[in-house]
Amino acid sequence: MNIQRVLVAGAGTMGGGIAQTFAQGGFEVLLYDEVPEVAASAVPRMEKGLQKVVEKGKMTADDVAASLARIQVADDLAPAAQCQFVIEAIIEDFAVKADLLAELASICPPHTIFATNTSSLSVTDLGQASGRAANFVGLHFFNPAPIMKLVELVLTPETSSETAETVGNLAVAIGKVPVLVKDSPGFVCNRLLMPMINEAIVLLEEGVASAEDIDTVMKLGCGFPMGPLELSDLIGNDITLAVMESLRERLSSDKYQPAGLLEEMVDDSRLGRKTGSGFTCGR
Ligand code: 3HC
Repeated sequence: MNIQRVLVAGAGTMGGGIAQTFAQGGFEVLLYDEVPEVAASAVPRMEKGLQKVVEKGKMTADDVAASLARIQVADDLAPAAQCQFVIEAIIEDFAVKADLLAELASICPPHTIFATNTSSLSVTDLGQASGRAANFVGLHFFNPAPIMKLVELVLTPETSSETAETVGNLAVAIGKVPVLVKDSPGFVCNRLLMPMINEAIVLLEEGVASAEDIDTVMKLGCGFPMGPLELSDLIGNDITLAVMESLRERLSSDKYQPAGLLEEMVDDSRLGRKTGSGFTCGR
């Protein structure tokens, strides 16, 4: 299928980053969020991020303007009817996602491909909730979406080979490297990454080392571009907690028990960069 126009539902950190990635890849993008203020702030946020890229001489101001001009903020989901590909990056709540997918299915023609950026829910169950399981995949981006090269392309037992091929080609067209993974809790990245971040929080809680030193160990000892605590602040500590809880529940193992300090941080709304306070920021 020839994909030219894409709808991204959810204009938060991930949805905005995904929209920017498609726009930079030359696609027409409709960006929708049910909260108008979130939708309205997405493009100015992209402009700010891209300003630094222009200053570094990696893109021209004209290229940035042309990319951002390809993004239209939609007031409702009706324009999804003109899109060949729809991806949702809304709240990690199965019922809310299922409602959105059902609404999109009532608007889009049957051939439109649907994708979810979920990091913790079952792609198979979401595909069934969409009513078009054969045209459904997980396309899991990494934060910051415009920069990180990987996407996990999650296929369910019902995903058609044509859909898998089309979305794989689409990922390459936006400059990503797709890795095929089966629908399994946390896929590959979060199954490995989140327990490691959680253990870093346990080390902090036990007073084994300071937050800065834990991060320094992993940066200088293991070549990480940022330490696990700074990374949790970037991802959002609420997301780290949600993924750990989902791994514990779906894999029925206490191995994935979230650190008490992580739960406290989330209870105190210290979610990381997005609230200006976390393990490594705003202390
Ligand atoms: N849009 C497009 N490109 C941008 C950009 C923007 N807003 N901002 C920066 N760039 C480009 C820069 O031009 C630069 O390009 P170059 O490599 O050609 O020079 C490149 O992106 C890197 O930018 P910076 O030099 O500003 O970035 P840093 O070197 O400081 O690195 C980082 C920042 C990329 C975030 C790095 O610290 C990193 O890789 N951290 C780890 C991030 C990570 O692990 N993410 C995955 C989290 S897990 C996840 O998301 C899964 C979810 O389910 C929880």
